[in-house]
This record gives sequence, C-alpha cells and structure tokens, in this order.
Amino acid sequence: MCDLRCEIFANRKSQITNHKSQITNHKSQITMKILVTGGTGYIGSHTVVELQQAGYEIVIIDNLSNSNIEVLDGITKITGKKPYFYQADCLDKAALQNIFSEHGDIRGIIHFAASKAVGESVQEPLLYYRNNIVSLLNLLDLMPQYGIEALVFSSSCTVYGQPEILPVTESSPIQPALSPYGNTKQICEEIIRDTVCATDKLKTIILRYFNPIGAHKSVLIGELPNGVPQNLIPYLTQTAAGIRKELSVFGNDYDTPDGSCIRDYISVVDLAKAHVVAVERMLAGKQKSEIEYFNIGTGRGLSVLELINAFEKATNVKVPYKIVGRREGDIEKVWADPSLANTELGWTAQETIEDTLRSTWKWQLSLRNCN
Ligand code: UFG
Repeated sequence: MCDLRCEIFANRKSQITNHKSQITNHKSQITMKILVTGGTGYIGSHTVVELQQAGYEIVIIDNLSNSNIEVLDGITKITGKKPYFYQADCLDKAALQNIFSEHGDIRGIIHFAASKAVGESVQEPLLYYRNNIVSLLNLLDLMPQYGIEALVFSSSCTVYGQPEILPVTESSPIQPALSPYGNTKQICEEIIRDTVCATDKLKTIILRYFNPIGAHKSVLIGELPNGVPQNLIPYLTQTAAGIRKELSVFGNDYDTPDGSCIRDYISVVDLAKAHVVAVERMLAGKQKSEIEYFNIGTGRGLSVLELINAFEKATNVKVPYKIVGRREGDIEKVWADPSLANTELGWTAQETIEDTLRSTWKWQLSLRNCN
C-alpha cells in the first residue's frame, strides 16, 4: 500500500516538475526588450552584442554625435540580429515618447548616451550639464509613464577622485569632481538616488567603470575616437601604427613605483558582460535594495609605463614615447576593489591584459586597412 502511494506521489511529482519546466521553457522563450541609449558608442555597441547573444531584443537610441552608423553592421554581423535603431537625441523628449510608444514592451533601459571628454567639458560646461543631465531627466520622467522600472546607469570611478585608500570600494567617499564631466556623473547618481527614494516603481544599478580598453575579438567593433585621441590606448595604438609620431607620457614624478600614473584597465567585452548580469539581476527581482552600486574593474592597477611595456610584449610592436609634464587634473592612482561585483553579480573580469591589448592592436590594424 505504502509502495503504491509512494509511486502515485512520485508520478504526480514528476508531472508537476514537467509542467514547471514547461513553464520555465516558455518563459525563457519570451524575448525581453531592452532600450540602450548610446548603443552605437564604444561601450554601448559591445554591450548590445552581449545582450543580443544572451537573448535580449535591443532598441538603440543614438544621435551618432560620437559614433558611426556602420557600427550597426558590425553588431549585426557578430550576432546575426539587427537591433532596432533610432537616430535620436535623448534631449528630444517628444522623439523618446514616440519610440517608447512604438515599443510598449521595453522592460529596462541601459543609459550610456552622454558626452564624455574631460577636457572638452572644461571648455563647454553647459553642453555637458545639458546633455548628460537633461537626457537622464527625460528618461526618468518617461519611464513610469511606459511602465519601465529597471535602469542601469553608466557611471565612472571618476566619482571617487583620488581615493585615500586603495583599492577603492563602493563605500569609499565621493570626492569633489575635478571636471564638469565628472560632476555630471555625480549629479546623475544623486538624481537617480533621489528618484528611487521617491517611488517604489524604479530599480536601478549604477555601474562605476574603471578604464575600458580593447575591442571585440571579431574585430568588427571597437573604439572609434574622433580626431586626435585624448585617451591613452587609442593614442598608443595610433602611435604604434605610425599615425602619430610619439606618445607623450604625462608625468614620471608621481608617487608610484615607476613615477607614472596607475589605472585599472578593463576589457570592454568584460565590461559589457557586467551590464548583462546587471539587467538579469534587476529583471529577476534579485536586487538587495532598489539602488545598488558596483565597481566594474579588474582589481589590478597598471602604470602608463607598464601598459606600454605590456603592449610591446603582447604585440611585438614598438611604441615610441617621451616623458612630458603632468596633465592637469590627472588622478595619480586608482584601481578597483571589484569583490562586491564578483560576489553579488557573479561577475569577474576574465580577459588577460595581453589578450585585451592584442584585440585593441588588431582593431587598430583593421582601421588602417579600411583607410
Ligand atoms: N596618458 C598619457 N598620455 C596620453 C593619454 C593619457 O600618459 O596621451 C595617461 C594619463 O595621464 C593617465 C592614463 O594615461 O595617467 C589614462 O588616461 P586616459 O585619458 O586614458 O584615462 P583617464 O583615467 O584620465 O580617464 C578615464 C576616462 C574618463 C573617466 C576616467 C575615470 O577617459 O572618462 O577614466 O577615472 F572619467
């Protein structure tokens, strides 16, 4: 008797399990739609690739002010899927409304679209305050109207300034910003925090990036700097390719082992993957609080001179350089403690610096071949 009851019970249990797994399969077949602002930019395009490969359907809004429409072809070739694309400015609220109305099933937003050149922001502060802050305000205004509750925001380790204690954790103090660009990141974080406090309809994850470098291994997408590059890696690869005469190393008299500044250089593909896990965490309701902050870095600091050396070793290509004076506003040293992202998001930077530098060199060569 007992055996029979056990058998019936076991059969029922397996029926329930089958039914449950059918529901799960059905759920996993539902494609979730994510809006990516700035989705044709450097970090945005790599993130769109990772999201599409994870099964998400993507709507991109980009005004193409610092990117190229051909990036869409690269994304499509890598993933076999063409994202929806709208050339629009996030300052244009009416345009945003039209796109939200057309895609009533957007479940979350990743907001990259912003101006990001530190030097330019000092020359044109109002452009930076308007672009970066009003864009965010427009999205936050519209999200509840369209039932969108999840936001991933692109922030930066610039909010920590020069930390007194390294590596820097998410609870390290926020320091006064050194540029209008840095200030917009701090102000945007505050605006998001206050909005989250005022409603129970908004969840957000703020990702504080360290220094993204590299390109997708397909060599179909990568960084496309406008004009003379301001950042180290594009200047370095253009110098290695003979486009620039020599790289200037800004200062060798800092309080670091070799005197040059230290940063945490992270592969843009690893960084892109952090966005996928952040979106999944929000949509699965796994956040521990309505607003969460994560450092997205490797945990390893490299000096400018060490990076040049690593590039030469990884590629066998010489980089002519000279030491010049310090660049105004540079932070001496900063690198991440990424352990919160490692444990909570289950995300860890995977690529070695050598592989990342090789990918960036291959990308530079592919650009040279295009010209
Ligand atoms: N550097 C050179 N020569 C160059 C360019 C840069 O020596 O031609 C040095 C800089 O002095 C710095 C390091 O390389 O020590 C990295 O400089 P980047 O300009 O590549 O990057 P930053 O760390 O200054 O800035 C980056 C982003 C910002 C972001 C900041 C956060 O560009 O948007 O990280 O710390 F705010």
